[in-house]
Amino acid sequence: MEKAKHLFDNLWKSYIDLNPEVKRVYDLFLSEGEVVVNDHIAFRTFEDPRVNIDVFAKPFEEAGYEYRGEYQFEQKKLYARHYEFKAFREAPRIFISQLKVNEFSSFLQNTVKGLVDKIPEKLFSSPDFNNSGAVWGDLSYDVYKQLRAESEYAAWVYVFGFRANHFTVSINNLKKYNTIEKVNQFLKDNGFLMNDSAGEIKGTPDELLQQSSIKSGIVEVDFKEGTYPVPSCYYEFALRYPDRDGNLYLGFIAKSADKIFESTDYYEKDKR
Ligand code: NI
Repeated sequence: MEKAKHLFDNLWKSYIDLNPEVKRVYDLFLSEGEVVVNDHIAFRTFEDPRVNIDVFAKPFEEAGYEYRGEYQFEQKKLYARHYEFKAFREAPRIFISQLKVNEFSSFLQNTVKGLVDKIPEKLFSSPDFNNSGAVWGDLSYDVYKQLRAESEYAAWVYVFGFRANHFTVSINNLKKYNTIEKVNQFLKDNGFLMNDSAGEIKGTPDELLQQSSIKSGIVEVDFKEGTYPVPSCYYEFALRYPDRDGNLYLGFIAKSADKIFESTDYYEKDKR
């Protein structure tokens, strides 16, 4: 677990540096006397053999994680896998998705290839790869907008690169805020905006998993054309239910995750 913990500490630090509102939420729960346990950490990448899910998962597998399930997101053209830590069930699950680049325009395909070509060879096998950010350097707002027109996901990875897209508070481990409704109300009372794409709560007790998330913070990003506001990362909240055998459900629901992905699709919606 030590190896995995080291990975998580670095990822968490980058995540709260970029998203101070996440730290505010985290601190709010602590101030209520809660212990914040991570349900899962999610990553986004491209389907390219140099940076795909297999490459992303490697440091986690070396730290003791193993593959547990896969998910398809037809509309968003994504494929994802989740991993669990063998020896310690309380460890956060790892959820890694990748964009099916080949199903997009030649512009998007060429752009992604160009980005991955710029990554220094030695980084691919580094344990820090999953926290290396937008290593390709110079960003263009025109490219960002063009990518976003096809895939908000692609545009997000273009700007923020490889890092935790979100951490997730395990509601099962909260005492006072032990329902997703109470968590959402607490966040709204404290001024946070919830992702309400298909309703604030994704999933039902029958599906054994309920999730919600705050909308991404907006960060000012330097592009070669100037500085523009871009939605960054979000914080998620998950409540798991036991199955008929009394075992807590540990997987994911593709239909719910599909809507959770939209927590970073904020800027465009707001302008409409
Ligand atoms: Ni998630």
